[in-house]
Amino acid sequence: MGKKIGILTGGGDCPGLNAVIRAVVKSAVIRHAWQVIGIEDGFDGLLDLAKCKPLTLKSVQGILPRGGTILGTTNHGNPFCYPVEQNGKTINVDYSDRVIDNIRALGINALIAVGGEGSLKIALELSKKGIAVVGVPKTIDNDLQETDFTFGYNTALETATDALDKLHSTAESHHRVMILEVMGRYAGWIALESGIAGGADVILIPEIPYRLEPVCTAIKNRSARGSRFSIIVAAEGAFPDGGSRIVAKQAEDCSSVERLGGIGHYVAKQLEQCLDMDVRVTVLGHLQRGGSPTTFDRALASRFGVKAVQMIADGQFGQMACLRGRNIITVPIENATRDLKLVDPDGEIVRTALDLGIMLGR
Ligand code: F6P
Repeated sequence: MGKKIGILTGGGDCPGLNAVIRAVVKSAVIRHAWQVIGIEDGFDGLLDLAKCKPLTLKSVQGILPRGGTILGTTNHGNPFCYPVEQNGKTINVDYSDRVIDNIRALGINALIAVGGEGSLKIALELSKKGIAVVGVPKTIDNDLQETDFTFGYNTALETATDALDKLHSTAESHHRVMILEVMGRYAGWIALESGIAGGADVILIPEIPYRLEPVCTAIKNRSARGSRFSIIVAAEGAFPDGGSRIVAKQAEDCSSVERLGGIGHYVAKQLEQCLDMDVRVTVLGHLQRGGSPTTFDRALASRFGVKAVQMIADGQFGQMACLRGRNIITVPIENATRDLKLVDPDGEIVRTALDLGIMLGR
């Protein structure tokens, strides 16, 4: 008998989400003749049946190159810890049973959760409560274990590298130090790889707490050699040795996460003390999450979407699709979400950066 499957996109958006949705609908309908229900606004949509609507081949027409997600998303709602107003106060309630009742009421046989670490942890909890769930790894941060790459990361890298190319010309004209603050949360992948690709002189990542003195010396040495400008990439999660991360907004409760941001301006202030040069800061922000996905991300997202449908057909629940080398394989969601995939401070990419003469803050 034909299945009915649900799909939701959770957490921060990223380029390629629509490519996954399209691939899921196409392979579910074309290969298996299944129905697909699109759930709006992440897990929140499962608390409101009006947000769960059929997706057809027509609904996904033309969405492959579009950034964002036609289903909407949120990085707040966690049904196991849902914020509710009660007597003028916000309390957190476990609504997971309501979610499960709604999945059953909709007749959904299996759920595809497209998300990063936070959303996949929720998916895992639902699977422990008996829901047939499969995961698809998404995030510009590339910080999920078990997969070589998450989709969205490659597009974010392109955006950051393009910004570095543009900053180079103006930095050189004005003999300035330009700092580019990029996203990535607690991982330095975007900063490190865009910094290498964009010819940065200094890259600061969370995995290597930086010391100011060698950074200043490196910039002074460049000036002395005749390169009177420098480009610094600072991951939003970077922090000084012995100091702490700069948090733009604290997490309010268990349904939200802390927001990082501000390291670019912090480093600029520090550098102004030790350098006799103009320093300017660009915070790349959500530009990294927007725009059309690159070819790599479109292909990866499409392969993940098709694999997720195949995993349902094969009964591989509680598992996540992932990229290993050139192959798409499956791994337990539990393994992918146990801890974050961070840059190895002694690994090959870091050594590459060092051998290119890039200063990494130590
Ligand atoms: O996880 C993706 C990400 O873009 C991080 O790199 C960043 O720290 C965070 O989300 C920003 O979240 P928000 O959309 O809430 O500002």
